[in-house]
Amino acid sequence: MSIIDDLALEPLPADLMRCEKRLQSATGHEDLFLDEIAAHLLKAGGKRLRPTLAICSAYAANGVIAVSDDVITGAASVELVHLGSLYHDDVIDEAETRRGVPSVNARWSNITAILAGDFLLARASSLAASLGADVAGLLADTIGELCRGQMLELQYLFNAERGERAYLSSIEGKTASLLATAARVGGMVSNVNPATLDALTQFGHHLGMCFQIVDDVLDLTQSEAELGKPSGNDLHEGVYTLPVIIAAAGDKELRGLLGAKLDWAEVEIARKKVLQSNGIGIATEVARTHATKARDVLEGADALDPAVCARLAAMVDGLVTRSS
Ligand code: IPE
Ligand code: IPE
Ligand code: MG
Ligand code: MG
Repeated sequence: MSIIDDLALEPLPADLMRCEKRLQSATGHEDLFLDEIAAHLLKAGGKRLRPTLAICSAYAANGVIAVSDDVITGAASVELVHLGSLYHDDVIDEAETRRGVPSVNARWSNITAILAGDFLLARASSLAASLGADVAGLLADTIGELCRGQMLELQYLFNAERGERAYLSSIEGKTASLLATAARVGGMVSNVNPATLDALTQFGHHLGMCFQIVDDVLDLTQSEAELGKPSGNDLHEGVYTLPVIIAAAGDKELRGLLGAKLDWAEVEIARKKVLQSNGIGIATEVARTHATKARDVLEGADALDPAVCARLAAMVDGLVTRSS
């Protein structure tokens, strides 16, 4: 069962299908080459977590009924930002595969992936603009935050001095900002009051922090078969994530390994050291703290449907449970 099936909200599959149609038309182009590239990852799959969040904000605000067309447009625009950023991320990471298919950079070229990623961001902006200046401005700021987060990660690649603050600030930008925006956009087009809008935004933020920390833990704990890429891939790429940062603080030998490109045998040694340390446990606790905060902000939002909020909170808890 996926995290989205777990939500078990009756109109969600049909609303996500409407979003899918909007995504297909937004990525379409009369230039058949651009059309093919822009649809490549969309067709390949993906969880649609960000559109789900936008749609669920609307359920929380207005009840569990089919959402308005504006909500679908907002949901599609946040997925397009995500999609565009994945095209670019795969160039940065020199990734071979994404969503179980060859990445655009691997199958075509880096330039193709960069241009098609830009095209998807442009389409996202145009959908957002159709919802008004506030949504367009929010989306533009969020794209800026994604870049800031990635840029900060870049500055600490292969840097054994990367500390918790730099890590947390980076994932806040590259992941949590878009999940916060997804939840906020769903509220904005549902006309909720400012306090409720902030609660939805905070929920998305804490979900995003939890989601990325869990993703970083799984990169170390899961097998290659489960991950679809080698375990410890982040270590290989020089991205020192929270469990590694915590483990390295108490392990001089591990610190000695960090800072240089590791071959896969060395990655395995470093990974084992992290697994033997308290790094995984403490990072999972940090993820759990965000899950609790996500639940708390929803519980404090009186204008939201408590049943929907309970499902959303359970979804975030489920992320942490799956990683521990
Ligand atoms: C992948 O995001 C990038 C991270 C933030 C870890 P998702 O895990 O939501 O990717 P898709 O959309 O399901 O492919
Ligand atoms: C995700 O970061 C980048 C975005 C948020 C676009 P990662 O590099 O950690 O994600 P994966 O592992 O490639 O999906
Ligand atoms: Mg990547
Ligand atoms: Mg990356």
